[in-house]
Amino acid sequence: MKATVVLTRQWPAEVEQYLEQHYDLRRNVSDEPFTAQQMQAALCEADAVLPTVTDTLDASVFDTKNIRAKIIANYGVGFSHIDTAAAIAAGIVVSNTPDVLSECTADIAMTLMLMVSRRAGEGEREVREGRWAGWRPTHLVGQKVSGKTLGIIGYGRIGQVMAKRAHHGFGMSIKVFNRSAVSADILAQNNAEQCSSLSELLQLSDVVSLHCPGGDDNRHLINANALSQMKQSAYLINTARGEVVHDDALIEALTSGQIAGAGLDVFEGEPTLDKRYCALDNAVLLPHLGSATKETRVEMGMRACQNLEAFFAGREPGDRVA
Ligand code: DGY
Repeated sequence: MKATVVLTRQWPAEVEQYLEQHYDLRRNVSDEPFTAQQMQAALCEADAVLPTVTDTLDASVFDTKNIRAKIIANYGVGFSHIDTAAAIAAGIVVSNTPDVLSECTADIAMTLMLMVSRRAGEGEREVREGRWAGWRPTHLVGQKVSGKTLGIIGYGRIGQVMAKRAHHGFGMSIKVFNRSAVSADILAQNNAEQCSSLSELLQLSDVVSLHCPGGDDNRHLINANALSQMKQSAYLINTARGEVVHDDALIEALTSGQIAGAGLDVFEGEPTLDKRYCALDNAVLLPHLGSATKETRVEMGMRACQNLEAFFAGREPGDRVA
């Protein structure tokens, strides 16, 4: 008998087709996010639940004796939306989809860095709204990033790809803040230096890019105190998770000129965001596009399928995180 698999959102068609061939697949045709009740029902009815970053799997959804699911194969690398301790207590294995989205997420971080430093969002709005008055030496003058210092917080797979692009493509010097020691070999690939403290990185960097996990460990890591240590000419880029940044503090820093600008792809409580961001010309705002390429979204789905396949064949899923 085929295992029952629930998708909490619509997935790329080719991946849904693949899943349909191998499992008793329950799709979410409406593509509406599940409520907590629907999520709990899925855990009680299916052998595997395949959620994604828009879902909340907190302790309450695991709080029932009727759970049938044995694996949660998350579509996405970040899994701070899943209470892994509660999943483990309920006897559920959790996997994610690392590696396949590193390049595209780093590309979006590069996009944001260039957009905010070169004032591309402001310029685009000016052209579209018919406000462009023509070329002049003082028009929308931004800052060069080539040769400057990029501080990377969280030197995992995505942070390293970002460093590679910035160092080898733009001649940027790379500083790293990472909770564990990064090996000399890995640092050497991008001529990077590991800072001994977050303060050191913040003070030295012209651009600070966040690539650390979300969740409680890093909640509001970038707060008023952190922002006050950045250069006034510096930019903050966030493609990690919204909760890493304290919105009130960042909005204040952008408004007062404490820092020069921010490029944000993720927001605390997304898709709702603090409306004050929309009034700030020195903020570039994207709707969580990090992994949003056709190739990557299919690869993420197929990676989740590989984890499922291994699990149901009695093997360890390659990307098990809990
Ligand atoms: C992830 O996989 O965690 C990303 O945020 C999705 O783009």
